[in-house]
Amino acid sequence: MVPEPADQPGAPNPSASRTPRHVAFIMDGNGRWATNRGLPRLLGHQAGLDNLKHVLGHLHQRGVQFVTVYAFSTENWDRPTEEVEGLMELLRDGLGELTQELHGNNVRVHHVGRSNRLTPELHEGIERAVALTRENTGITINVAFDYGGREEILQACRGIIEDQVPIEAVDERLFSKYLYTAGTPDPDLIIRTGGELRLSNFLLWQSAYSEYYSTHVLWPDLDAIELDKALASYQNRHRRFGKVNTADSLD
Ligand code: IPE
Ligand code: IPE
Ligand code: MG
Repeated sequence: MVPEPADQPGAPNPSASRTPRHVAFIMDGNGRWATNRGLPRLLGHQAGLDNLKHVLGHLHQRGVQFVTVYAFSTENWDRPTEEVEGLMELLRDGLGELTQELHGNNVRVHHVGRSNRLTPELHEGIERAVALTRENTGITINVAFDYGGREEILQACRGIIEDQVPIEAVDERLFSKYLYTAGTPDPDLIIRTGGELRLSNFLLWQSAYSEYYSTHVLWPDLDAIELDKALASYQNRHRRFGKVNTADSLD
């Protein structure tokens, strides 16, 4: 992840056509947020879940159409059982209310990642959220839970082999259709909270040409001001996609 250059102060220009279509988040820092307050880590995850609604609302206002949130990685299983189980319960318990709220706001929910290791209750809750919001036409949110970029690429390879796809038909377009994110455009902007400068196995294939923004703000504290800083930073980038033209190609 590239260190963030000095930010331009102020909100992004809403009339600019440079709003990222797809913003992906590495929602990091929940544990530190809680520890800083002398609270158990799980309360940090609860605060993180609560903040998700505010973040989505703000991005919707700014015209973002797709949001992907990294909620639990394939590596996060290695955390203490208490934290893993607590996280599953937290999401399962919060999902019903969250789904109703998202549905009321015309949000479409997708799950990206493995399903077969989730608790049956969480799996059912996610399936219900996806089914209920399937026809919605507003912002799409991909919830990356038990997601890992390498695992996703491997399962895509397995799918292609299983379907006996002829070798000459395997190109980038076809490969993308076998990923969990099939049907979602690649992320334009990836925002990581918590200050780390790494991907941690997130969207390895899809992020080939994403712009990065890393902030020291912890996920539960991510607010409209910091979000606008990230969007303004994105607006000031020149995306060249490997070409040599110096014209601004963000539009
Ligand atoms: C991110 O917050 C949420 C998950 C990985 C589930 P962390 O739990 O990693 O928080 P820190 O990095 O320990 O502060
Ligand atoms: C990345 O955060 C995964 C999620 C936000 C779900 P981690 O806290 O697991 O990442 P590392 O361990 O710092 O790389
Ligand atoms: Mg972390």
